[in-house]
Amino acid sequence: MSVAVTKSVSLQGIDGEIVEIEADVAKGLPGYLLLGLPDAALNESRDRIRSAVVNSGLHWPQNKITVSMSPAWLPKSGSGFDLPISMAILTASGQLNPNQIDNTLFIGELSLEGFLRPIRGIIPMLIAAMKNGITRALVPEANQAEASLVEGIEIYSANNLAQVIRGINGQETLQKVLEVGFSQSENHLDISQVAGQQMAKFGLEVAATGGHHLLMIGPPGTGKTMLAERIPSILPQLDNSQAREVAAIHSVAGTLANRLGNKNGFDKTPPFIAPHHTTTTVAMVGGGGKVIRPGACSLAHHGVLFIDEAPECGVGILDSLRQPLESGIVEITRAIGTLHFPARFMLVLAANPCPCGKFSGKGRGCQCTSLQVRRYLNRLSGPLLDRIDLRLKVETPSRLELADTNDRESSGTVRARVEMAQSIARERFSDFPFKLNSQIPSELLRTKFKAEPKVMAALHNMIDREEISARGFHKLLRICWTIADLRQVGIPRTTELETALELRTANEIAA
Ligand SMILES: Nc1ncnc2c1ncn2[C@@H]1O[C@H](COP(=O)(O)OP(=O)(O)O)[C@@H](O)[C@H]1O
Ligand SMILES: [Mg+2]
Ligand SMILES: [Zn+2]
Repeated sequence: MSVAVTKSVSLQGIDGEIVEIEADVAKGLPGYLLLGLPDAALNESRDRIRSAVVNSGLHWPQNKITVSMSPAWLPKSGSGFDLPISMAILTASGQLNPNQIDNTLFIGELSLEGFLRPIRGIIPMLIAAMKNGITRALVPEANQAEASLVEGIEIYSANNLAQVIRGINGQETLQKVLEVGFSQSENHLDISQVAGQQMAKFGLEVAATGGHHLLMIGPPGTGKTMLAERIPSILPQLDNSQAREVAAIHSVAGTLANRLGNKNGFDKTPPFIAPHHTTTTVAMVGGGGKVIRPGACSLAHHGVLFIDEAPECGVGILDSLRQPLESGIVEITRAIGTLHFPARFMLVLAANPCPCGKFSGKGRGCQCTSLQVRRYLNRLSGPLLDRIDLRLKVETPSRLELADTNDRESSGTVRARVEMAQSIARERFSDFPFKLNSQIPSELLRTKFKAEPKVMAALHNMIDREEISARGFHKLLRICWTIADLRQVGIPRTTELETALELRTANEIAA
């Protein structure tokens, strides 16, 4: 035997493509040639693989070794190909039975001693293999927990190369990775922990129901962060396909371990990602040099992206969110091609009302000039604010409210209402490609999804009096629909418009 083929996966974003690795061990001067668009890390693989093979007590062929990876046009990166390449070489040099590696996916980096090191992106790789009819996979032991989330493919794990060889040759039983799948929430944050803030809580409920982006403005210490952190607890749990997508993104980013509850599988609470305002554009939307990683807004896919002290964000950081907000996808273009990471999230911004934080409109304690106040919130760019439907004013809770622990609704109760209202909207939109009120296109708000005539008239009057812009008109209508769904009243009435206006009171500050 002088030629052998093994299979692995190359990732572009979170999409996996099957790669066939062909090793040819031929007579000739000892040498090693790697073909098929390898990147630098992959080019270094030869020395790692040779050391690993030798240190595992196996024989490194003193022949002319040619390794070819196909499809040739596909860029291949990373060190996860060490294991499949070594398996191909060992088979081609007669040290393994080719039937035993048939239809098996190999993934893993090798250390010089022959240990299998974990790699990023195991989940999308296994999903790609499964979709391509590969029935068996071998992954590093340290990737076991991640791998256990993937269904529909038989997965084994090993700690080192020697163990893999013994397993394949039938001298040892390899550890089988048991499917764990996705579990229910282990979230300990509950909306009932927040005292008072009835209006703000209702605002969160509306935002969660309609998928509306949200801005909270209020002095420090009023509970803005506390409220934001509890939004995932009132959102519907992820379904299996959403959970798989989120897991794939976090697998590629290397942040999945944080989301794997104590052996109970993957938590189905929507993600909550809170990058600091000093973050970089790359950390926010993704990118990087050699290895391209998803950014915060992709990690927040199907969940919440929270930016505290948003006006403090560096120039361009908030604006970099415009593309994902528009399309739900981050596109990263490099010489090797364009990668896509999904990024459909609910944006939640928090801001102090002014640089010192004490501005309340009543002039108590705040030393900032009115120009400073205006400039501060103007740092939130117009185009970004345009996408934010809800602007809540969060005020300091009274002592009475802080002390009162009775009758605080739990997140479960609120979530049940959110789910109910979302199902009403879904039914209304059954003939349309969108599901949430925040996604109703403007034209349809003027034709198919109008509020009661009185409400439409009132809104038109507000435009005439220049109290709202055309954009504000559409936003108010979308919020009206969400409130109407929560109240189960069918078409939005005047009282829904009144409530919607209350949820935008922060507009008085952020003009
Ligand atoms: N409404 C509230 N109910 C209970 N605790 C609160 C409330 N508001 C503030 N706190 C307490 O104050 C701390 C600071 O709140 P935080 O959410 O960080 O405020 P902000 O983000 O508005 O500055 C919280 O950790 C919490 O202990
Ligand atoms: Mg805060
Ligand atoms: Zn101030």
